[in-house]
Amino acid sequence: MIYFDHNATTPLDERVLEAMLPYLKSCHGNPSSLHRPGRIARDAVETARAQVAALAGAAPSQVLFTSGGSEANNLAIKGLAWSLKPGRIRIGATEHPSVAEPTRFLARYGWDCRTLAVDAQGLIEDATLDAIAENPPDIVSVMLANNETGVIQDVRRIATLATGTWLHCDAVQAAGKIPLSFAGTGAHLMSLSGHKIGGPKGAGALIADASVPLTPLIHGGEQEKGLRGGTENVAAIVGFGKAAELAATELEERSQRLRRLRNRLEQGIEELPRTTVFARTAERLPNTLQFAVAGYDGETLVMLLDRHGIAVSSGSACASGAREPSPVLLAMGVDPALATGAVRISLGKDNTETEVEQLLAALGRILETGTQC
Ligand SMILES: Cc1ncc(COP(=O)(O)O)c(C=O)c1O
Repeated sequence: MIYFDHNATTPLDERVLEAMLPYLKSCHGNPSSLHRPGRIARDAVETARAQVAALAGAAPSQVLFTSGGSEANNLAIKGLAWSLKPGRIRIGATEHPSVAEPTRFLARYGWDCRTLAVDAQGLIEDATLDAIAENPPDIVSVMLANNETGVIQDVRRIATLATGTWLHCDAVQAAGKIPLSFAGTGAHLMSLSGHKIGGPKGAGALIADASVPLTPLIHGGEQEKGLRGGTENVAAIVGFGKAAELAATELEERSQRLRRLRNRLEQGIEELPRTTVFARTAERLPNTLQFAVAGYDGETLVMLLDRHGIAVSSGSACASGAREPSPVLLAMGVDPALATGAVRISLGKDNTETEVEQLLAALGRILETGTQC
């Protein structure tokens, strides 16, 4: 199987597995225990904290470990909201469901929740930004890079305009693909996920500035400064740390290679009949490409490519299964019929030029024979 769905999840890097194994076998201590096995586990968690901080351009003391990106987003949105009086919260119109759903949930508790409109390229509109600057909301959440289109938002600009607003940034897809700087974005909170960067599932982080008032979602333990009760998933955290270290060290080389492969793919796809590449002129992640073929349903193309041994996704993985147009593309004003045809290709560090050519050849054959489900 040729795997082109790295924005859904990445394979576990062999070097990450090696780093994790001792914590799945002999080093079984609880990081809260005072004895030696406990101290060994604590040291491992703290090493990982420093590694994740380095990838995010943050201080280790700002890293709170969670079970993944969804929990980090929930902790950011709901944890902040529980600490404030109900007010106004604004999120980008193309946010991941793990930001959009907790925001919608807050409406039940008196919060005024709205989305920030995006333009045809998926970027938050200037008029919307002006409105934010004029009357800053209590909370704003904007993703750094979109999981479907790969579009990169100018979060720094939003931070500069929205003075007095608590700003959260979902950097789950950006991490390991473009340079990250928590301080540089001006955000107060930033979410990351281990399994998107070659780490295991079950570990993520919320980077939080010390000034942010946060209420935990999980009570019952003093772990993570009392903000996330529960014994730490030591092996997964160690794996996340190692993956973060590798992503930071290899970032430049990986992103250059990925960009080359993605550009070749894009060129090949655009040469095929009736294809549209979304957010074509926006600054995008180097590994991501979303397109549609007029007259084809996205799920159909995913299944046809699967028969050729190629794994891609229709829209975001979380939305797969539902034959509805991608909400991200609808927010960008894409025609619903075309949005239903969206296919996302997300490359990873181990993909090769040969695999890219195989994908283009398979897609060409499918469209040539006019195979439809
Ligand atoms: C932009 C974005 N945010 C958050 C998440 C959720 O991360 P996790 O799978 O670690 O819960 C995802 C996962 O696809 C994502 O793409």
